[in-house]
This record gives sequence, C-alpha cells and structure tokens, in this order.
Amino acid sequence: MCGIVGYIGHRPAYPYLIEGLKKLEYRGYDSAGIALHFGNSLKVFKKAGKVAALEELMNGLEQSTNIGIGHTRWATHGAPSDRNAHPHISRSGKLTMVHNGIIENYAALKEELLKKGYTFHSDTDSEVLLNFIEDIQLNNNCELEEAIRIALKRVTGAYVILLLSEEYPQTIFAARKGSPLVIGIGQGEHFLGSDASPMLGYTKEVVYINDYELAIIKPDELILKNLGNERLTPFVQKLDMELATIEKGGYEHFMLKEIHDQPEAIYDSLRGRLDATQHQLTLSGVDSIKDKLLAARRIIIVACGTSWHAGLLGEYLIEELCRINVEVEYASEFRYRNPVIDERDVIIAISQSGETADTLVALENAKSKGATIFGIVNVVGSSIARLSDAGAYTHAGPEIGVASTKAFTAQLAVLQLFALKLAQLKGSLDERITQELMQELSEVPQKVQHILDTQIDIIKKIASKYKDARDFLFLGRGYNFPIALEGALKLKEVSYIHAEGYPAAEMKHGPIALVDEQLPVVFVATKDRVHEKIVSNMQEIKARGGKLITIVTEDDHTASSLSDDCVQIPKAHEIIAPLLSTIPLQLLAYYIGIERGADVDKPRNLAKSVTVE
Ligand code: F6R
Repeated sequence: MCGIVGYIGHRPAYPYLIEGLKKLEYRGYDSAGIALHFGNSLKVFKKAGKVAALEELMNGLEQSTNIGIGHTRWATHGAPSDRNAHPHISRSGKLTMVHNGIIENYAALKEELLKKGYTFHSDTDSEVLLNFIEDIQLNNNCELEEAIRIALKRVTGAYVILLLSEEYPQTIFAARKGSPLVIGIGQGEHFLGSDASPMLGYTKEVVYINDYELAIIKPDELILKNLGNERLTPFVQKLDMELATIEKGGYEHFMLKEIHDQPEAIYDSLRGRLDATQHQLTLSGVDSIKDKLLAARRIIIVACGTSWHAGLLGEYLIEELCRINVEVEYASEFRYRNPVIDERDVIIAISQSGETADTLVALENAKSKGATIFGIVNVVGSSIARLSDAGAYTHAGPEIGVASTKAFTAQLAVLQLFALKLAQLKGSLDERITQELMQELSEVPQKVQHILDTQIDIIKKIASKYKDARDFLFLGRGYNFPIALEGALKLKEVSYIHAEGYPAAEMKHGPIALVDEQLPVVFVATKDRVHEKIVSNMQEIKARGGKLITIVTEDDHTASSLSDDCVQIPKAHEIIAPLLSTIPLQLLAYYIGIERGADVDKPRNLAKSVTVE
C-alpha cells in the first residue's frame, strides 16, 4: 500500500525523501512524488511508475531545501497516472498533501466542494480531503491545524496525511487514523515514514503516532495533540529492529505477515460496500452491468490456481443465492477449447495480479465474442482490470509472498458481496436471509482475528507432528470443498509435500486406497447441511488407520472427538464459513514449510505473476 516520508531539519531534505521512498518500495506502488518547501513557495514533482522515474525527473532540478514530503501510491481511487500521483495541491496552490488510506465519504465531500465551485485535477479521494481542509480554513479564517482538526472529525475512513503550507515554512502537519506513521527524532530535525525503515541510520528514537492524533512538526519541536486540541506527551521509543524485519511488519516472512493482514484485508474489501446496520450493499460495478447480469443466460468464472479456487466457491454462492447457472473454467483450458460464448454471457475474471497471461487471453477471446467481463482484481490499473467492462477491486494491498493468502480471502469476500448484490437485484433471496448474511459477513474480520489469536499454537504443534509426511489428503464437501483444494495447493507450494484436495464423498471412489497409518487426512468439516455426511467420511478414514486433522466449528464435540488433531473456528453461516476455515490451512502450510526449511516466501519454481502461458 502507499508509503509516506517526510523530513524537516538542517540537512538537505531530498536525499532522505528519495532514499526513504526506495526503502518503502516493498509495500507495492505504482507512482511516486515529492513536495519541497522553498520558504515562500511549494514545488511538487510526481511521476507514474517507479521511484527511479521520479529520480530521473528530479535530475538537475532545484532541490536545495530542508523541508519536504514524499509518497509512493498504490492506486485505489483512479488509475495509476501522473495526475493521480501524490502530492496533491489545493485550489489556492498554498497547500500540498500526501495521503495514505481511503476516505470513505469522499464522494459526499466532493459534492459539497463541487457546489462551491471547486474543480479537481485527479480522481483521488485525497485531493478532495486536501481541498476540504483548505475550504474550512478559508471559511473559518482559522489556523491550519484547527482546519485539519475540523476536517478530520468529518472524515470517515483511514488516513495518514502529511501537509505543507506556504504560510508555515517551518512546519509539517501530520495526522493519522488507521494507517501507520512513525516520527524519528534527531538533533534539530525530524524524519517521517510509514514505517521506520527510511529513518534507520539517522536516528534510534521514534514516536509512533496513534489514531486521532495530530502532529505539528518543526525542526526542533514535536507538538502532539488530539483532535480535541489537547496537548499530548509524545511517547519516545528506542528502535532496535533490522530493516528486513520492519518491512515484514515484525514477522519472519511475508507469508506470515500476509496471513495476519487478513482481518484488515477483508475489512478493506468490504469497507464502503457493506453496511450491515443500514442493510445496504453498494457495488457500483454490479450496478453498471445490471441489465447484462439480469439477462445473462449463464455466468462463466475464469481464473487460474488459487483464484480458480475462489471462483469455484463463487459458483456455489451465485448458483445458490442468485439461481443463475455458473461455470468455472481454468483460463488455460478455456482459451484453447473454442467455448460457445456470445453476448448473453457474463464472464467473471478473478486475478490477484491482474496480469496472468492465460486469464488475460481467455478474456480477450470471450470479449471478442461479445461477452461482458466483470473483473475481481487486486492490482489497480492492471491489464485484466483495464480489459474488464466493470468490476470490483479486492483491497488486499500488495501481496509479496508468492503463495497467495490474503488476496484469496479478499476474493472470497468480494464474491460474497457480488452474490448478495446480484441476489438483491434479482429478488432471488429472502430479505431476512440477505440481512443475516450481511451481518455475518461484517463479522468475518473479527472472527479471523480470533482464529489468529487462539489457534496458532495448536497449528504449530500439528505442523511439527506431521512435517515428515510424504502425502496429505484434504477433504471437504459443499462450500468447504474449494477450501480443501486451496489447503492442498498451499501445502504443496510452500512445503513441497504432495497433497491432494478431494470432495470428501468422492474419496471412496479411488483415493481411499491411499489411506494407511502414515497418511494425514485434513477434513474441512465446519457445521453445515452435509455435516453428518462428512462425519461419516471421517469414520471411514479412521477405520482404515488414517490420521485425522480436522477444522471444525467450536463446540462440535462429535467431530473433534473423532480427530487426532483439531482446530476450532468460530460459528458462522455455512456460506460465510469458508472465509474462516481457510485461515488454519494457510497457517498449517506455512508452519510445515518452516519446519522443513523451505523458502516459504519464494517457493522453488514459482513466480508471483505468471505472465507467460
Ligand atoms: C497460489 C497462487 C497461484 C495464483 C495463480 C493466478 O498460491 O498464488 O495459483 O493464484 O497463478 O494468479 P492471479 O490471481 O494473479 O491471476
């Protein structure tokens, strides 16, 4: 996600800013920019692409000042481009700002400002917030910090903002809610960053700014206030982390960090779209192709790998909730087998990277035959996003671990929203059930957090117990079948153990021949309409000496008493439960991979973005 840096003090600001942005590159971004304060004027430089492109732009330009702010942008509102890159400049040209996060009510604020004659030079929510602050300052004739406080009380969403003002040549204004901000303290200087990596080597003393705090930063003074204008004492901490650890947020591997990111990634993917208390679902992408969807003779989901598993769950969801025929296709097969497609078909493309070659070509083929494409993509402005007629981004943030984790659960969350929204439009689902599912969906981030808080030690023990197994079987039924497939894929990828996913009842038609005392069998067996059936399948494995590792709903004593090892997850509707049952399987794969000394972040032979067929 976006990265932020700032410097104020006695040394040239530019080298700190540009080097700091490079240190934040690991967060993922698509454009970069810097604003410098030259005492009586502000100058902004920004460029789509890499920090290196910004550096090239700055070559030979005037940089000699001791105050500046910088930003790497991970697009959310508006495509990656020069105009959407930060910093933004206010209407008067006297304020400039960088922003990390999402302003959820930006549309309403923009509407207000448009009525007052404001015009905008980007598609971003950030430029709206900046002008909103300026407007408040002008109307109230107040100090900038007061205007920031008033504005932030009206804003919903998440932000870190850094502001420079022509009026205050010796000050950076900063505030945060939800997104991180660290201020490093030097002798007569301050360093700012989204994390501490840019300031390593400059200072060991840092202050982590908390939500709803406003910092007024001068070379030799850090004033911290809350939004009620009360002064707070900054809590100075010693920095004793290595750079690599900071980039991974303190986790040993990106994969583990990204597993732990999931409560936030799912929340971000639901945010602004699902309002369970008001019973409201907003998915403008679905609205924009509403007529096509309602008239569709079928929906075809096209994807690869983990995204294909999300698609399989999508099939179950959409067929059940919307009563539309759905087919799920491996993009690599679909593109070569001359499928029957015409303008009555809607294709859902699912892709984390948005660049997977097979998926892209499959979509181009379908589009050329008249189908409508709906993209569920993580990377804004990627090729699949651009090819789509409509879509809904997953807001999982950059996924660096090669094995997909948080992008997968974000895809599931968006598919849930898609199915619920389409069901609402079709009138195919009882309103009471819709509301119940919306409520349950909104509770998923905290339930995922609960699993992370309570089950990790149990999973670590299971990993250590079975780390030497040669094969694994993953079984599930109904909504848990795609999750069993995903569990097997994750284990294969990061531990190199052979693993197969199967529908639990299908096992007796062949794979049961593999079962002996050496074979761990993972059952994804949360409470659902086929629960009794899967308990019978567990008995069948147990009778043949297989080792049962189960993912069950808490309080399910029948299933847990049959198990050799058992992970419990919170109760949830069977349609929602896959978002939870995935988490222990990701952790199991991760810890087995670690036990076996595998490179979990970069498994052998795999690439993050498969841009070749
Ligand atoms: C597995 C994994 C891959 C991808 C697949 C599609 O952990 O990450 O199976 O899911 O290569 O990639 P995207 O989603 O980028 O199209």
